[in-house]
Amino acid sequence: MKKLVIAIDGPAGAGKSTIAKILSEKLGYVYIDTGAMYRAVSWAVLKSGKDVTEENILAVAKDIEVRLENTDSGLHVFADGNDITNEIRTPEVTKIVSMVAMLAPVREKMVHLQRKMAEKGAVVMDGRDIASHVLPNADLKIFLTASIEERASRRYKEMAAKGFDVELSELQKDIAARDKADSERKVSPLVKVPEAVLVDTTGMTIDEVVEKILDMCR
Ligand code: C5P
Repeated sequence: MKKLVIAIDGPAGAGKSTIAKILSEKLGYVYIDTGAMYRAVSWAVLKSGKDVTEENILAVAKDIEVRLENTDSGLHVFADGNDITNEIRTPEVTKIVSMVAMLAPVREKMVHLQRKMAEKGAVVMDGRDIASHVLPNADLKIFLTASIEERASRRYKEMAAKGFDVELSELQKDIAARDKADSERKVSPLVKVPEAVLVDTTGMTIDEVVEKILDMCR
């Protein structure tokens, strides 16, 4: 089978990372989680201890070196050489990431890296603007979504399993707010491009979703 470039976009909690990771493993492709890169910048802003202002975010983003590494134990995320794979999934990072991802200079730097990582093909990249902006020539474009109730409930189980004390109703509110910010921002908003295949995963198992996308690849 030809080595493909697969773009997966969609709102928060739609299962993009889970699906993209399994797909990349099955196909022997590189997995690029672009959300993790905006989370890495957000983490560094919090770590700096400074107020989360546009000026401080831009200063941190300018100097940071973000790197993704596909390993046998999954995708690892590095900021300035530190493995921050787990640190970027905290509610504190999630709270500010949409604000960080809204800023054009931050996006330009990350998009440049993302395109470089995808240069050789055989990649699955997930995010919000992959089909519309980062990889407009992708071979397969998927828009993955699910009802807000299901997305919140999946995220709840994920966070509870990690030991975070979260409320389902709060999570649902946070997800809705993040979707709104991501869809309404000026630079590269979350959008379904006309040629993307809509996959609504409400009520579907992970295996069913993976199989459906593998079928499209074939
Ligand atoms: O995918 P994940 O939920 O980890 O993404 C975190 C945030 O990063 C999103 O809510 C969005 O603000 C931002 N993001 C983005 N563009 C991407 C990927 C993520 O703006 N390509």
